[in-house]
Amino acid sequence: MPTVEQNLFLWGKADGWKDDGDKWSVKWGGTELEWSTSISPRIRHFVPTSTILEIAPGFGRWTQFLKGFCDSLIAVDVSPACIERCKERFASDTHVHCYVNDGKSLAMVEDRSVDFAFSFDSLVHVESDVIAAYLNQLGKKLKPGGFAFLHHSNLGAFQNSTWLPKAIGRPQPIGDGGRPAPMSRGLWLRRRLQSKLTDWGLVNTFDNRAESMSARIFREACDAAGLDCRSQELVNWNHGPSLIDCFSVVTARNGQERKPPRIVENPHFMDEAERARRTAELYSTI
Ligand SMILES: C[S@@+](CC[C@H](N)C(=O)[O-])C[C@H]1O[C@@H](n2cnc3c(N)ncnc32)[C@H](O)[C@@H]1O
Repeated sequence: MPTVEQNLFLWGKADGWKDDGDKWSVKWGGTELEWSTSISPRIRHFVPTSTILEIAPGFGRWTQFLKGFCDSLIAVDVSPACIERCKERFASDTHVHCYVNDGKSLAMVEDRSVDFAFSFDSLVHVESDVIAAYLNQLGKKLKPGGFAFLHHSNLGAFQNSTWLPKAIGRPQPIGDGGRPAPMSRGLWLRRRLQSKLTDWGLVNTFDNRAESMSARIFREACDAAGLDCRSQELVNWNHGPSLIDCFSVVTARNGQERKPPRIVENPHFMDEAERARRTAELYSTI
């Protein structure tokens, strides 16, 4: 259950970022391959555009590509170390503006100024209160007709699993439907212990994914923020076929009727990475 403070602690140390985060793209065979295989096809309808907001850019792994698709890019991260590195890395790109925030606020962004908001491989670590805060503000910051593509945790859909890691390989909570049943005291104690062990760094359950977040909670938060959640792709990530992550596309509702989102389950997401890496490897040896 990473809090804003825990995220700041986790990502605030520049020495943990020796390769600007490129190590997280190794499964794809590199950062460029992850961008072209898994990100670009999903956002190509939203870019190029005028203003892009990137939430939680880290050391700029995706900023380096996004900046070529807009007239102005605003990057906001809770970690001063990350923003310092982005400022240094993109110093010659005068259209890139970088800000440290408090982990929830987009106050530095003008209302109705954002054509496309983006976050990838970051908000999986933030709990539902942070997602709700960002969605609330995106309701004001997006231009009419603007879109957001946000990658977040779906681990909360596994709430009823006695011990979260055992959820791996179990039947999926298909469609994320229904509210979780009330927890027994034994289950509650187990979950508390697991959270504590995670907090103390003794176990790293699902790469510190947020347990309070799910695709359903995201849709509810969109509703509350006056946003329309247009699509959700539930995907696996590193830990077998369980759909622990979600890519959600949202747009401002502008007083119009809410349309039902298209929800797709993709337990083969990590196969994209494997295929890209193997193909690139094959040709790199020629
Ligand atoms: C795993 S890194 C990924 C960074 C970048 N998206 C990438 O893929 O290389 C997670 C990033 O999320 C940022 N972060 C975590 N919680 C945040 C929050 N509440 N608001 C803004 N940034 C946050 C961290 O500071 C860190 O830069």
